[in-house]
Amino acid sequence: MFDKGCVMKSVHAFWVALALSIVAPSQQYPPGTDTYEYGGQNLSPKEREGRNTWYFWTGGGEKFWRQTARITHGVTDLLQYVDSRRRPMRFKLMGVLNDPDCTAATEPDEFGLWMDNCKPVVIPGIPSESSGIVGLRKFRNPLFDRFTWDADKYVKDPASVEPPYLIGMTCGFCHIGFDPLNPPSDPENPRWSNLAPAIGNQYFDEGSLFGLKLTSKDFRWQVANAQPAGTSDTSRFATDNIFNPNAINSVVHLAHRPSHPEKLADGTIREVHHILKEGADSIGTAGASLRVYVNIGMCSDYWTTLHDPIYGTKRPQSPFRIELARKDCEDWRDTEARMPAAEAFLLTVKPALLKDAPGGSQYLTGDAEVLRRGALAFADRCATCHSSSLPRRSRRRRHSGPGSGKPF
Ligand code: HEC
Ligand code: HEC
Repeated sequence: MFDKGCVMKSVHAFWVALALSIVAPSQQYPPGTDTYEYGGQNLSPKEREGRNTWYFWTGGGEKFWRQTARITHGVTDLLQYVDSRRRPMRFKLMGVLNDPDCTAATEPDEFGLWMDNCKPVVIPGIPSESSGIVGLRKFRNPLFDRFTWDADKYVKDPASVEPPYLIGMTCGFCHIGFDPLNPPSDPENPRWSNLAPAIGNQYFDEGSLFGLKLTSKDFRWQVANAQPAGTSDTSRFATDNIFNPNAINSVVHLAHRPSHPEKLADGTIREVHHILKEGADSIGTAGASLRVYVNIGMCSDYWTTLHDPIYGTKRPQSPFRIELARKDCEDWRDTEARMPAAEAFLLTVKPALLKDAPGGSQYLTGDAEVLRRGALAFADRCATCHSSSLPRRSRRRRHSGPGSGKPF
């Protein structure tokens, strides 16, 4: 039911918050406060909305993760994955980051589940709480029924009863990592100021997410544990049945990456970055990012009708229709509306330079001869893949890269 006074109050609060964010972007907190805003980062209101999206928006994927827990009978279950009893060892066991705003539970909650105790942190426009792990968000499950609930039964088989919470995944789950310029003294207890938004979590152990309860006798455990730390098999739910884990690389200097004209499905031509290792997502950052939400669960009511999401064996895959998703899936529309802000935020992310890391300068040399030989070795052995610059004569178009005045 709508209470007008309450609506007015929140409208008022909105304007105050907006005014504050415009007038004093980095002064919302006393200096030294440790928050996910890292002192505001001097972001514009749009970039902040994008940062909040990157850190906290799940696009409704929590429904998919609940479905996964049911289909796999708990082999992959985010609710059991966030169990607070693992908090002191989460980084060591799973390579994930403890949310600095939470602490370990000292007893089970009212539903018999071990959930981290988290400070209430209001994220404007984003209705979820922390699960205790950076990038995993907690929601109330609308299907929960207190009278049929039984925690022991749930743990034995999550398909047997609806749990009180759903857990969804944000982009930050894989992309936020320790800041090499300000690493935490204890990796199990970082502060927000020790975390970097898009450096990529080089320690993330995806195997523990997909094979939490399996033993090495199970083939699925073998698949899950063959992945090196810091990688994700991003086509897992597309069930291409190709073992394809890739490093979660840093997303930096997006504004300076070369762009290329690409003809899109609707016939229009757009200047886009060639994103991902093999340049697959060449539809622009906003569109590519929207696609990733589908990959981590968004609109699963729709796309799980198009293919068999876990084992990929029951039926052949059929195409995903964007216009259908836009029409029938509210999460698609809500998330699509946030993508320009998400892109604006990603454009602000800068690289961490070795010279600025603690002790980093000792690995660098000013010796011109060493640098010359290194440049030659790089050109000879690495540049074919790792540089966007072309030899002078074959340079057809140049938006960035050496000589354009922009870093590459
Ligand atoms: C489960 C881990 C995981 C999650 C969650 C995740 N990503 Fe990624 N992301 C990756 C990996 C791995 C790569 C590199 C893949 C490749 O290049 O083949 C990547 C690459 C990217 C890139 C391209 C970077 C480049 O340099 O070309 C973008 C942009 C991106 N992700 C956006 C997102 C967005 C937006 C979300 C949230 C909707 C998200 N990611 C969530 C693992 C993840
Ligand atoms: C044939 C293409 C190719 C060549 C040549 C190549 N690389 Fe790579 N490199 C890649 C790819 C692809 C990745 C990402 C691998 C992954 O996702 O697991 C990568 C990853 C890396 C990374 C990790 C980057 C990150 O963000 O995690 C470093 C560092 C690196 N390469 C350095 C080098 C150096 C130094 C050389 C030359 C001695 C070199 N590479 C030559 C293709 C290449």
